[in-house]
Amino acid sequence: MNIKLVPGNSAGTVTTYYLRSEGSTWDEIDFEFLGNLSGDPYIVHTNVYTQGKGDKEQQFYLWFDPTKDFHTYSLLWNPQRIIFSVDGTPIREFKNLESKGVAFPKSQPMRVYSSLWNADDWATRGGLVKTDRSQAPFTASYRTFKADACVWSSGKSSCSSTSPSQNSWLSQELDITSQQRLKWVQKNYMIYNYCTDTKRFPMDLALILDLVFTSIFPYDNPCIIFPCVRS
Ligand SMILES: *[C@@H]1O[C@H](CO)[C@@H](O)[C@H](O)[C@H]1NC(C)=O
Repeated sequence: MNIKLVPGNSAGTVTTYYLRSEGSTWDEIDFEFLGNLSGDPYIVHTNVYTQGKGDKEQQFYLWFDPTKDFHTYSLLWNPQRIIFSVDGTPIREFKNLESKGVAFPKSQPMRVYSSLWNADDWATRGGLVKTDRSQAPFTASYRTFKADACVWSSGKSSCSSTSPSQNSWLSQELDITSQQRLKWVQKNYMIYNYCTDTKRFPMDLALILDLVFTSIFPYDNPCIIFPCVRS
């Protein structure tokens, strides 16, 4: 999806683009764009819900002004991973770590949604900056929506009847270059990561062991490995 975010003083507003299933134990994959005062950076807030439980936020600044032009925000969701990308650069990978006891959204069909709402109780500087309603209407623009998906209908997935080559996204993963770009974003633009928020989620033994293990065997960025034990 191409999105151009609310220009000028957008503080207090949240523009969203997300996937969500139905019911009280829903799954959800979120892009939320937290507005700001003119000239101050927008925050891209991402979250993943499984079975109605979220608490998996990661937040980023962008390397451009998202109110000046359209940029592409995409979600890859397949059985192995969820990848959030901006202009083709991955900013977050949420791996399927069911083997480590972390639930992964896999069994409920989701629809695409979008909205623009007032969240001035928390969105901008933790709620300090309020929405200036004299700036209304607040307008975000969307264009060129494109989806490749398995369509669920009458208890059947449309993908079972098509050839695997038409659905290469079903097994898509990050190549080496994309992994390097992901690390670049996480190093330079990530401003919040639930994985390392030990105030909010005190460390349990499993988490400490996992941390020790990944520092002895640094096979990956701990920020990426960390969520493995956060369920
Ligand atoms: C808005 O800009 C300020 C810097 O002036 C920054 O601290 C904050 O993280 C920005 N974003 C939001 C959504 O508050």
